[in-house]
Amino acid sequence: MVSESRVDPNVNSRPVAQATRMAGLIRIGLSRGYLLAPATRLLSAASLDLTGVPPVDRSLVVRRGDFEYVVARSSDVASLTELGALELAVVGSDILAERAPTVSELLDLGIGKCRLVVAGPAGTQLRAAGLRVATPYPRTAARYFEDIGLAVEILALSGSSEVAPSIGVADVIVDLVETGATLRANGLVVLREIAACTARLIAPCRDRAHLDAPLIDALIERLAVMRPVVVSVAATSRVSDETLVRV
Ligand code: PRP
Repeated sequence: MVSESRVDPNVNSRPVAQATRMAGLIRIGLSRGYLLAPATRLLSAASLDLTGVPPVDRSLVVRRGDFEYVVARSSDVASLTELGALELAVVGSDILAERAPTVSELLDLGIGKCRLVVAGPAGTQLRAAGLRVATPYPRTAARYFEDIGLAVEILALSGSSEVAPSIGVADVIVDLVETGATLRANGLVVLREIAACTARLIAPCRDRAHLDAPLIDALIERLAVMRPVVVSVAATSRVSDETLVRV
């Protein structure tokens, strides 16, 4: 069973109302969760002012000079970029593979390295047909199990799939593993690896004539330059990253 939401197929062809946009303002989408801290570090290293990101109150938008940061669920960041509501955004390659949004992928940022895996209680055999798989990645999971020739039932959840086996609603999960802390805390182990993932810089597939294109191009160039520096610092501080509070 793959849950498909009913989406108006024409929704992405409608232009975003320009009235909601301030001339020259560059909106950058940031994915909530494990990607937020490394994305914030990379953008700061590229000389952007991200003071107040993430917001401590319930607001989801922070304005800093010519830039506005929108913090949202990664699947929504991809959709908002596709709609043209964000000029740039940072999302995981996991979301791009799952949602296949019509966007331009500008850079592999190298940050947010993690794995999309099948996980379950130790000793779980991926042989019996009819296993139930809980996952926020129903399409990717369905593709994977089809490829290995195993008929499964997919239970689409928007997050927290790790709880599903222990409360008896699924046998295994398909989800991201970064440090492994969430799996361990829920008594699960990696059974198979599906894909290695990293954060990508994306942009809408439309011209940016109404914007300060040189400013955006300069930012993309700075991100490309700073990316290896931030990636290597992150690699040496993985343990302390595990203790970061996630939003
Ligand atoms: C991601 C992912 C896992 C967790 C894995 O969730 O969905 O739940 O990180 O990280 P770990 O291996 O370091 O424990 P995220 O923090 O993005 O929140 P979400 O589940 O609400 O999307």
